[in-house]
Amino acid sequence: MDAFTGAIQARALTKRFGDIVAVNNLDLDLPAGRIYGLLGPNGSGKTTLIRLLVGLAKASSGEARVLGVKMPDRENLAHIGYMTQADGIYIELSVWENLRFFAALSGTGDKKGMDEVLDLVHLTSRKNAPALELSGGMRRRLSLACALVHKPSVLFLDEPTVGIDPALRVEFWKYFRALAAAGTTIVVSSHVMDEADRCDELLLMFHGKVLARGSGAEIRQQAGVDNMEDAFLKLGGGDSEDTGAAA
Ligand SMILES: Nc1ncnc2c1ncn2[C@@H]1O[C@H](COP(=O)(O)OP(=O)(O)OP(=O)(O)O)[C@@H](O)[C@H]1O
Ligand SMILES: [Mg+2]
Repeated sequence: MDAFTGAIQARALTKRFGDIVAVNNLDLDLPAGRIYGLLGPNGSGKTTLIRLLVGLAKASSGEARVLGVKMPDRENLAHIGYMTQADGIYIELSVWENLRFFAALSGTGDKKGMDEVLDLVHLTSRKNAPALELSGGMRRRLSLACALVHKPSVLFLDEPTVGIDPALRVEFWKYFRALAAAGTTIVVSSHVMDEADRCDELLLMFHGKVLARGSGAEIRQQAGVDNMEDAFLKLGGGDSEDTGAAA
């Protein structure tokens, strides 16, 4: 692999599930300190790509690097945050115990940092409550706090704002922007088109490939339309993916 020193790199990255090609021969070079939006229909390969980059799924062929390190790599996980699409928290543990658990996984656990992320997601008053007692949106908020608690330099967020109320959603995006300004690289998947324009760069995925890449304005220009929904439909077709057609 060439000497790209950006945050995220993929070379001919491919993941097959039987006949389905979930990620299809993908090449990516993503410089650090930017917010990348991963857009694409259901089944287009967003979560699979994220799992390959985090090292939780094994590539069928090709390779992925994060911070120059070939994934999977256990030690590199100390620098990576991952908020899964399904909540990855432990409902029998309290809010605080969840945070402590995720902090400990990466060898951190400073109380101040834990308090900070708890405050960010507005769960300080629920610190001692079992996660089981949280509402759906609160569980998403706790998942985000757990992904952030070790101050990762590369952050993967799989539909982080699903179920989050509008006011907090705006606050999350402000925080993501502040993290990027401080050098954090963020990959965020979303189906919410008004969030797309908050990203520095969009990657439009269809059938396991990135079919268009650029800022929101560039993508709209490429599609010859003036809003993201139309651009998305025009560039990739509107239907959710028929899994068998991905090859
Ligand atoms: N563990 C698995 N076993 C078999 N097939 C899988 C597995 N994980 C994903 N797939 C298939 O890979 C394809 C891509 O799925 P993926 O979850 O990456 O899509 P996605 O873009 O994240 O979709 P969504 O927007 O619905 O979250 C789909 O056809 C899916 O059925
Ligand atoms: Mg997904």
